[in-house]
Amino acid sequence: MASKYGLLVRVLLIAALMQFRTFVVIGEPQVPCYFLFGDSLVDSGNNNRFVKAEKANYPPYGIDFPQGVTGRFTNGLTTPDIIGQLLGFRDFTPPYATVSNEEIIRGVNYASAGAGIRNETGMNVGERIIFDEQLLNHEAIVSRISALQNNKTFTIEYIQKCIYLVNIGSDDYVNNYLMPNNYPTSNIFTPDQYAAVLIQRYSQQLTTLYNLGARKVVLFGLGPIGCTPAAIAKYGTNGKPCVESLNNLVKLFNDRLKPLVDDLNNGLSDANFTFINFSGIAAPLNAVPNIACCRIAGPEGLCIPNSNPCLVRALTAWYDGFHPSESSNIILAKRSYNALLPTDAYPYDISHLARL
Ligand SMILES: *[C@@H]1O[C@H](CO)[C@@H](O)[C@H](O)[C@H]1NC(C)=O
Ligand SMILES: *[C@@H]1O[C@H](CO)[C@@H](O)[C@H](O)[C@H]1NC(C)=O
Ligand SMILES: *[C@@H]1O[C@H](CO)[C@@H](O)[C@H](O)[C@H]1NC(C)=O
Ligand SMILES: *[C@@H]1O[C@H](CO)[C@@H](O)[C@H](O)[C@H]1NC(C)=O
Repeated sequence: MASKYGLLVRVLLIAALMQFRTFVVIGEPQVPCYFLFGDSLVDSGNNNRFVKAEKANYPPYGIDFPQGVTGRFTNGLTTPDIIGQLLGFRDFTPPYATVSNEEIIRGVNYASAGAGIRNETGMNVGERIIFDEQLLNHEAIVSRISALQNNKTFTIEYIQKCIYLVNIGSDDYVNNYLMPNNYPTSNIFTPDQYAAVLIQRYSQQLTTLYNLGARKVVLFGLGPIGCTPAAIAKYGTNGKPCVESLNNLVKLFNDRLKPLVDDLNNGLSDANFTFINFSGIAAPLNAVPNIACCRIAGPEGLCIPNSNPCLVRALTAWYDGFHPSESSNIILAKRSYNALLPTDAYPYDISHLARL
């Protein structure tokens, strides 16, 4: 039974992939720029220059990416890469670490692996650019754009038309709350209190983003952290496909995102925030065995440098111990852009947000 279901999901995955190849039509972008914030699900090389940090700047990462190794934590495109293509961007959004002055007006990727909503999150993995610093970096970029365009009114109107994507919070669990030997949070807060405290801080940070001119903002809910190969190896699943207790933990955060979106949209004039139900969209992928495609080294769940990954990468949900494969990212991106089910996005999907 299980293997039949697995086969069906594989067939659906392949169908989704083939559809995607013919789906992308590159033209003029639907919005003038696209700014990205977050953690390793979004990072495209910002951590490469750090000595000790969570990094993916070595093979077999990037094995299916046009430019090879870049620092992306997957075999090919990330979810934000694919959303960028669906929005009509010809080039990938450059990482903050290397972006040029000519490139900044199309958008910048500020994301950094290990970063969280809370400042201390990810300290155990080393250097990272925390969300507060990502916002400071964005402030500097907005000033540079303003200097280039040399017309304040024009710049304000310009950056209000852009799309801002934020995917952060997983590390506040994986590299904070779930590490009681390194962080005190699980002694201080119940799971419910912790979710509430995170959301409160997130709300302030998103208000800062709004004050820097953002109006069209995509908030990704947290993924099923209990279904990652690393979590399954660490905690066991009691015969279930995933570690239910971990998925229930992040659900407390995810369930607060829709009310947060409502609050921000009601409280901030002209704001159009929207929520993407990452866990909901990823649910069918749990029917695929939760096995990493690459060989994993240690509890960090990253690929062993220069190891050979699995061959049929289109049929794998996870690339390493924590990060989805490109084939999963294609499904996530497509359903974020064009919702398949009403529960995929709230109040609307990204294609709708782009047209506002
Ligand atoms: C977090 O870090 C930012 C940027 O470094 C700093 O401005 C802020 O005061 C810090 N917040 C807390 C609560 O420590
Ligand atoms: C500045 O931009 C605004 C809005 O696009 C425009 O109406 C105005 O003419 C511009 N001013 C100058 C001096 O170009
Ligand atoms: C986007 O925001 C504007 C200003 O707050 C609001 O009037 C409009 O209804 C929002 N659009 C949608 C589709 O919710
Ligand atoms: C996400 O989607 C799942 C499955 O469709 C649904 O059960 C869940 O309520 C959704 N979550 C949120 C926060 O909307």
